[in-house]
Amino acid sequence: MLLLLALGTVFTYTVVSTEEPEDRSHKLNYSSFSLPKEHIPYFLRNNRKVAELCRRDPLCPFKDALLVKRVCWGYEKNCSPEHRIGYPVCSTVDSGWASSVSAAQELFWKQADFGYVAERRNELKTLCKPLNPGDSSLKCTSHMRFCRVTNLYLDLRNPRRGHERYKEDFLQRGEIGGQCRLKGKALAAEGQHKSPLQSWFAELESYTELNFHPVKDGHCDVVVKKPTVFMKLDAGVNMYHHFCDFVNLYISQHLNNSFSRDINIVMWDTSVYGYGDLFEDTWRAFSDSNIVHLKTFDSKRVCFQDAFFSLLPRMRYGLFYNTPLISDCHSEEGMFRAFSQHVLHRLNIPQEAPTDGRVRVTLLARSTEYRRILNQQELINALKTVPSFEVRIVDYKYKDMPFLEQVKITHNSDIFIGMHGAGLTHLLFLPDWAVIFELYNCQDESCYRDLARLRGVRYVTWQKRDKVVPQDKVRGGGASPPGDGFGRAAHSQRLHTADLTSHTPRRLRKIDLYTHTSSQSHTLFTAGKHCTPTLSHTYSHTHTHTHNLSVLLYTCILWDSCPIINSDDEMSFRQPRPNPCVLLCPETAVW
Ligand SMILES: *[C@@H]1O[C@H](CO)[C@@H](O)[C@H](O)[C@H]1NC(C)=O
Ligand SMILES: *[C@@H]1O[C@H](CO)[C@@H](O)[C@H](O)[C@H]1NC(C)=O
Ligand SMILES: *[C@@H]1O[C@H](CO)[C@@H](O)[C@H](O)[C@H]1NC(C)=O
Repeated sequence: MLLLLALGTVFTYTVVSTEEPEDRSHKLNYSSFSLPKEHIPYFLRNNRKVAELCRRDPLCPFKDALLVKRVCWGYEKNCSPEHRIGYPVCSTVDSGWASSVSAAQELFWKQADFGYVAERRNELKTLCKPLNPGDSSLKCTSHMRFCRVTNLYLDLRNPRRGHERYKEDFLQRGEIGGQCRLKGKALAAEGQHKSPLQSWFAELESYTELNFHPVKDGHCDVVVKKPTVFMKLDAGVNMYHHFCDFVNLYISQHLNNSFSRDINIVMWDTSVYGYGDLFEDTWRAFSDSNIVHLKTFDSKRVCFQDAFFSLLPRMRYGLFYNTPLISDCHSEEGMFRAFSQHVLHRLNIPQEAPTDGRVRVTLLARSTEYRRILNQQELINALKTVPSFEVRIVDYKYKDMPFLEQVKITHNSDIFIGMHGAGLTHLLFLPDWAVIFELYNCQDESCYRDLARLRGVRYVTWQKRDKVVPQDKVRGGGASPPGDGFGRAAHSQRLHTADLTSHTPRRLRKIDLYTHTSSQSHTLFTAGKHCTPTLSHTYSHTHTHTHNLSVLLYTCILWDSCPIINSDDEMSFRQPRPNPCVLLCPETAVW
């Protein structure tokens, strides 16, 4: 019974016709598309039938969008370069990767922008071919990192469920398949990336050509008619990792050209466990239904009429975990910006826009034991003396503040400051004109800088390794030399994250930050004269009003007033010795 409730459209022992009556011309529900206004022209371009109905319907709310000619995301056939939504910007050419600026741009576009979708689309191959209309089918990109299926048969009458989340021999021949002509050799050749979070090969390698039609011939205990997405999760408890899941789902939707929320999301999980998810509100951007665990179908033969297996969070050269990216390039109106707009729109997160001349500064505090700013209050007080700053200090603890409320604050920040850590993944939801200021960029250097250039927000960091006091040393324990260990800790943490349940950093160090006392704050805040801004970023906010933020100028001032880290390792953090203020523009520049 629960099953019926969870899935909405489930039929038991029923033969379901695959055709729906198609007279929708007067009944198109425009608001069900639920896309940001900026995306409508692209949507109409890729959904010609909807565009045609809209053209004929005097009440269609998308008339403006119909006037926007020929725009495209960039991956469509016949999408000419001048019509695509955006293209990366490269400042210099990284000779290790490319020989010219245009080659660099093209490479970044393919690595991390809509070119990525174009590449995957080109890879799509039919591995099980329907011979008659209504047959099953299986179509995948290289290494089975994304697959689309119709009339999939899945026999879970005797599931080999255990403790592993992604058991590779969970299914055996005959337990998964369809009625179609299987290209067995071609399928077997896709196995080079067989690994839980890199491909679907382990799940689909036993795909079997059946001599019956699963649905029509009545071999299914349950027929799931509603389009379904299968996912394997990276992590529900860490924002950086979990957003690798969401981003790949969004990219998969581009691959499938479908953004409907009238879908099921099925967690492919071969364990007996459930999963924890601190960011579950985000699913609402993708599905109206609750997430379904695969084990819900145990003891049944279940057939999915229409489904895809989503791109995965840890694919080689995938996005965005460990993506190798050409340097000195960034996207401005790229795929990650589209992701951000899409999610913000669907979760109803408003942009309230700063009042004139105000800059909304958010400092992300941490209540964890490590990676804290010890003199945080001092810094806040100093920031508050700048009249144009609206300073907010937040501690994004999911128990105290619902995730969507966190996102709303982030989205309404013009400068966002935070210690290195998964919370910085919030930068995905900053407004386009914002700057993210990472304190302290600790050896996992490219992590959030790369995320910032994927998203297209400015990035600054503060790096003075010699001024960071490793926690072990301060405590007087048998410490590793300063500057060592930190990176290794960060690295080993990365490796540990492969284990879905243990994300607790164990050996990370405390960072001590000091600033000058109030007597010197004058010097700090008239720092503009020492600090010549070279760039001012202006941005027109189309919805409500135009504002003009010189964000880099402010960031620069902010920098001047910002944490001074005690340079003397021998000084304990209990007795800070003030250093001269560093009156410099950020040495680690933008991006
Ligand atoms: C149209 O879609 C919206 C959003 O999905 C929904 O709330 C509304 O009930 C739908 N209207 C009709 C008439 O189906
Ligand atoms: C994938 O695309 C097909 C064809 O447009 C569509 O019918 C189906 O609903 C989509 N699947 C999902 C899960 O959105
Ligand atoms: C933004 O500021 C610059 C410099 O002060 C000014 O020249 C420009 O006209 C402003 N733009 C808008 C849209 O207000």
